[in-house]
Amino acid sequence: MKKITKAVIPAAGLGTRMLPATKTIPKEMLPLLDKPVIQYIIEEAAASGIEDILIVTNRQKSAMDDYFDYFPELEERLGKSGKEEYAKAIRNAADIANIFYVRQKETRGLGHAIWRAKRFIGDEPFAVLLGDDVMHSTVPVTKQIIDAAERCDCSAIATKPFRPEQISAYSSIKITPLADRIFSVENLNEKPLPEQALSNYAIMGRYALTPGIFRCLENLPAGAGGEVQLTDGLKMLLSMEKIVAVDFEGKRYDTGNQRGFLEATVEFALRDAKYGAWFRDYLKSL
Ligand code: UTP
Repeated sequence: MKKITKAVIPAAGLGTRMLPATKTIPKEMLPLLDKPVIQYIIEEAAASGIEDILIVTNRQKSAMDDYFDYFPELEERLGKSGKEEYAKAIRNAADIANIFYVRQKETRGLGHAIWRAKRFIGDEPFAVLLGDDVMHSTVPVTKQIIDAAERCDCSAIATKPFRPEQISAYSSIKITPLADRIFSVENLNEKPLPEQALSNYAIMGRYALTPGIFRCLENLPAGAGGEVQLTDGLKMLLSMEKIVAVDFEGKRYDTGNQRGFLEATVEFALRDAKYGAWFRDYLKSL
């Protein structure tokens, strides 16, 4: 398999679960400590060997392209007032990777958002990182998925086991063990009722996909929730190519809903070198 150096970050969802804040602020721009959510995702991609990143956005999300641009006036002012640390931080955010943008003109689902990346990706394998799923791990989760895809020479998806009553919020997969933490995918279904779940393993927001996925997404009809679902595209891909799933090492936070966002905020703060000790004491004092 050709080395994976491109990634797509779909970030064109409406973020309705985080309203009213996301009426004007993209959910990907909400801060986890001192950085917006999407910066953690871009840093993970860069740490996984990704050089070029396409963010799929929409007309409400221009704060993202502004954030990953230079801001010379502000940098100069910070420099002059002895705040070099901040000047460096805002410049670094713009230099993590080569970032490109494409708009999803209609919110037609994750599968449709990925399909918008077809011309950018061309005929090579690529990574997908969902714009609101933040990971904490020793080895970057995207690297774990890319390594499995390269090793098995096929598409790879991230997975984690869930309790049966939680699986309806995700896609479930039928799997058989292949190697340490790697499974062969036999079937997939999107947002199953608990009794329809294929196993307690759910797809999480990291993928390494072959370009074959674009043929599958091209004319795919809308599925669950009236949206074009990536899982339906993967199901079609599975009828043509093998797919593996990786029960990755690490923890995933869905910052696209209030509980996930709070969990991420608290746990990232507790782990933070500058604020961790103070925050732990503060929580104990409550
Ligand atoms: P989600 O379902 O988590 O995001 O989509 P959402 O649609 O913004 O969420 P709610 O339900 O309204 O709160 C999973 C990923 O797919 C992207 C989202 O931005 C997120 O990264 N997505 C979803 C798109 O890019 N386009 C779409 O049409 C739908």
